[in-house]
Amino acid sequence: MHTNNQRETVVILDFGSQYTQLIARRVREAGVYCEILPFNTSVKAISSRKPSGLILSGSPASVYHDDAPRPDPLLLEKMDCPVLGICYGLQVLASILGGEVRPSKNREYGYARLKILDPNSPLFQGLPLELDVWMSHGDHVIVPPPGFTVTAQTADALNAFESLSRRIYGLQFHPEVVHTPLGSMVLRNFLFRVCKCRGDWTPLAAIKGQIERIRQQVGGGQDKVICGISGGVDSAVAAALVNQAIENRQVCVFVNNGLLREREFELTTALLRQNMNLNLQVVRAEHMFLKALRGITDPEKKRKTIGRIFIEVFEEKAREFRNVKYLVQGTLYPDVIESVALRGPSSVIKSHHNVGGLPKKMKLKLIEPLRELFKDEVRLIGRELGVPEEILTRHPFPGPGLAVRILGEVTDDNIKLLQAADRVFDEELRLADMYHTVWQAFPILLPISTVGVMGDERTYERVIALRAVTSVDGMTADWARLPHDLLARISTRLVSEVSGINRVVYDISSKPPSTIEWE
Ligand code: XMP
Repeated sequence: MHTNNQRETVVILDFGSQYTQLIARRVREAGVYCEILPFNTSVKAISSRKPSGLILSGSPASVYHDDAPRPDPLLLEKMDCPVLGICYGLQVLASILGGEVRPSKNREYGYARLKILDPNSPLFQGLPLELDVWMSHGDHVIVPPPGFTVTAQTADALNAFESLSRRIYGLQFHPEVVHTPLGSMVLRNFLFRVCKCRGDWTPLAAIKGQIERIRQQVGGGQDKVICGISGGVDSAVAAALVNQAIENRQVCVFVNNGLLREREFELTTALLRQNMNLNLQVVRAEHMFLKALRGITDPEKKRKTIGRIFIEVFEEKAREFRNVKYLVQGTLYPDVIESVALRGPSSVIKSHHNVGGLPKKMKLKLIEPLRELFKDEVRLIGRELGVPEEILTRHPFPGPGLAVRILGEVTDDNIKLLQAADRVFDEELRLADMYHTVWQAFPILLPISTVGVMGDERTYERVIALRAVTSVDGMTADWARLPHDLLARISTRLVSEVSGINRVVYDISSKPPSTIEWE
């Protein structure tokens, strides 16, 4: 097992690009563990990771603005590992090292044809002399720093430079996005030809280390560990992992808050019982949640109420078990990365009350076995640990459940209506083989009624909105271009099968400025 100090690590400095996490995922796919740190992390903190390489991410900023994000001024002098700047990262390198950066007339966005000028450049070895690349930038470097050679260009503009002796490289295009088809090879060249990485990291290797760490953390005594199961990927995989480490000293609690999808509680319980050897305790608390939500229409109040009742129910259940000292949480790496302010408002816009208040209230210590991993990596190890595929590939589902998809008061009737609509949408997406092409898809019950006509009768019934989005991490999202025929089928079925609905609308907003959920 590698300890943190020995593990081969690449550091990515985040200057605020929407693609920073994508760079990290590509590096890890190449078998190299990497961490994302804020752009202004001190050289001392970066060096303590003993990185094999350093990557400077892109950014929406411009280097010549006073408030442009800049790295520690000693970075290039003090770091003794190779450095790769991508997009804004290249411009920062140019401006620090004495090159010249200018604003372009127009923001260059989209495909460009890259001409490689030096096929012997370590970054471009083994690649064709021309490739399609993806660009997204407003500035460009017009003069490379002294001592640097230009190794690639698009049309007439510089697109890559390097100094072999200083082991510093820059790329104007984005090698990390799928729109640069050979981009992964460029990144791999940096990792293996330049940084001489071994590339022996895998998510599975990471869990071996985790299992050992959990055993050490919990110790050999009587202390017990409690884990809240939500039916989602993260909590199921975290529970499976802890189970490997300490088996019967973990109690898993699955609370039915009555705000889950139709038959979800029964199905998930059965799946977990059949496939995983967990000590699974279920609590039926639908009535408590429904009672507490009565009369509440304010979205934040709903979230807070659900969070509070959850804690009460969970705490009550936990009291049945002696010596509970630890709480397992399925925190993932994207939740841990210190977000760069430039990225603007993110997940703090809504309170996410899953198990938030529990550790403090119950004086529990946290076990977060997934905190170094991305979602795809969690799925991989979940598969290894026998977590059912149905759970691994489910769309994300918010902790407060259907309550944030019923605008206005949450009542039993509203829940039933929305559950029925949700089943129809889900069935049709799966039939059309489109379930896995979207990040999330769900209906929202609106608090308005509209006039319709059915047969010869005038109707006055509720409106359902459909939301389907594509996304890589839930931080930004675009509305999914679902085929019109599919939307038509869903709409027809909703109005004819779900009583109480006479109108269906499709949400065509992206995030930002909207959010994925409506509340
Ligand atoms: P928004 O609506 O903020 O959602 O764009 C981003 C992602 O987070 C999910 N979501 C939640 N997940 N607890 C959760 O575990 C919550 O309270 C919560 N609220 C939103 C949402 O479904 C989307 O995937």
